[in-house]
Amino acid sequence: MKILVINGPNLNMLGIREPDHYGKETYADLCEKIEKHCKNKNIEVTLYQSNHEGDLVDEIQKAYGNADGIVINPGAYTHTSIAILDAVKSVNIPTVEVHISKVEEREDFRQVSYIRLACIKTITGHGTDGYLEAIDFLTEGR
Ligand code: DQA
Repeated sequence: MKILVINGPNLNMLGIREPDHYGKETYADLCEKIEKHCKNKNIEVTLYQSNHEGDLVDEIQKAYGNADGIVINPGAYTHTSIAILDAVKSVNIPTVEVHISKVEEREDFRQVSYIRLACIKTITGHGTDGYLEAIDFLTEGR
């Protein structure tokens, strides 16, 4: 089982950015936590983060034929990017949307999610554990 975990803009700033929303764990801590979880479960995982929309599209396209599932937190591109939505639709790989914060309780502009239209599940407000839940859902929960 091969899982690709994609993080969008500003998620490399975890631990520094708005800890009230995103907690104190750093991006490196998140990667370590995901890698450990996947090692224990014999899951092959690739981690990718970019602040650039086109690079995120490229990485999703590269997953075609190479990944069995995608976990994606597109950051602010969740609320704006039709290109990322179309990329996930193009590769037709089961995808789970993750948000660290409880987006549904935040600003109006965060209530739109384009990516959700291409996802089989959405997990919000579970902190970084949401990524592990998404991986478990893709690998065992369906
Ligand atoms: C986020 C929520 C988005 O609204 C925000 O732009 C982010 C992070 C989350 O993980 O809660 O960058 O996706």
